[in-house]
Amino acid sequence: MPANLSPIQKPNAAQSWREQAAQRYSLVRGHSLALAAPLSAEDQCIQSMPDASPTKWHLAHTSWFFEAVVLVPHAAGYQPFDQRFFHLFNSYYESLGPRHPRPQRGLLTRPALSEVHAYRAHVDAAMQQFIAHAEPAAWQAVAALVELGLNHEQQHQELLLTDILHALSCNPLLPAYEPDGEPALRLATAPAPMRWLERPGGQVDVGYTGEAFAFDNETPRHAALLQPHTIADRLVTCGEFAQFIADGGYQRPALWLSDGWAAVQANGWQHPAYWIAPGDPRAPLAHWQVFGLHGVRALDAQAPVSQLSFYEAAAYAEWAGARLPTEFEWEAAFDAPGISQMTGHVWQWTRSSYDPYPGFRPLSGAVSEYNGKFMVGQLVLRGSSCATPAGHARPSYRNFFPPAARWQFTGLRLAKDAAC
Ligand SMILES: [Fe+2]
Repeated sequence: MPANLSPIQKPNAAQSWREQAAQRYSLVRGHSLALAAPLSAEDQCIQSMPDASPTKWHLAHTSWFFEAVVLVPHAAGYQPFDQRFFHLFNSYYESLGPRHPRPQRGLLTRPALSEVHAYRAHVDAAMQQFIAHAEPAAWQAVAALVELGLNHEQQHQELLLTDILHALSCNPLLPAYEPDGEPALRLATAPAPMRWLERPGGQVDVGYTGEAFAFDNETPRHAALLQPHTIADRLVTCGEFAQFIADGGYQRPALWLSDGWAAVQANGWQHPAYWIAPGDPRAPLAHWQVFGLHGVRALDAQAPVSQLSFYEAAAYAEWAGARLPTEFEWEAAFDAPGISQMTGHVWQWTRSSYDPYPGFRPLSGAVSEYNGKFMVGQLVLRGSSCATPAGHARPSYRNFFPPAARWQFTGLRLAKDAAC
């Protein structure tokens, strides 16, 4: 199944709340298995770097979340599948006990993939039982946690794809996750020349509007003050980024932040991750190619550039005589007339540090660790990507990664101060 064709869960007024909850749970959980289906058991066990997790771990960890956060505390008589899994598949929740080291998740050849599938089935059966028989008052007490668990699973669905893409990129054979199908980032139509949209200064309200679901890091809604600026109507393309490379962008320290230039030197970056230079022995052709979920394809000059670190995005913006938008400029422009590609292509680096909003309070209980404790040393990305499950994005969504991360579908849109 293509990554961006996950089921969209639309409430059906004719269904009871139990039917709606059971169906939504089943659809989201089933999509994780569908995403893993093209992969062999060997593929699903591998961990290619400390930041990336094996597919099998994602499948188990998302089940652990429901088990540890919903079933154990709230479902009377629930019997865990295997007590040892609380240690193996806890990610970072200090309040839920010790855990297996993150960089060593790829060493977990046991439990076998079949056991992880049985674990998922065990948790799913208990969750469906809980949904079917919970008293309405009891359901109200945990409905928000179940919804958090489903949105958590959708986040891991995107990570499952980006993590396996990194693993496959490390294989000299460059195997495709999904050999057939359209390239995930191909645009429906050729992008027109980029246009600058004038945006006014002044006070805007940003953050969660109160509709549907949001993570705690999108709250509280509050006022932000913008200066007059312009923002690009579309994303930067591969063809435009190729001009930056051809102009010596990766060899000109004046374009780079100090930490970014250090990263270029330390890592030998000369192009976005997964770009294959002409003559590369892994896929020797005379033109640029890009490795993606559909394997090696010719570089599409009109597709949004992806797999960029924040440092590369910022250097490109400097080269282009522009800058990255702040996360609030981006959110305020979400519905601006003429703007395009805000979601569904690549996450867009912003010039905003990942900080708590004024008045931010984390969720209570174990899930207080979900977002708040990561609010240092990272940059906010807005929008969503081709790997984000359908229906998961919204204007106030805040993704975040360290500035050197480049294994996600990450690109950029330009902005300028009004006086420039
Ligand atoms: Fe997680």
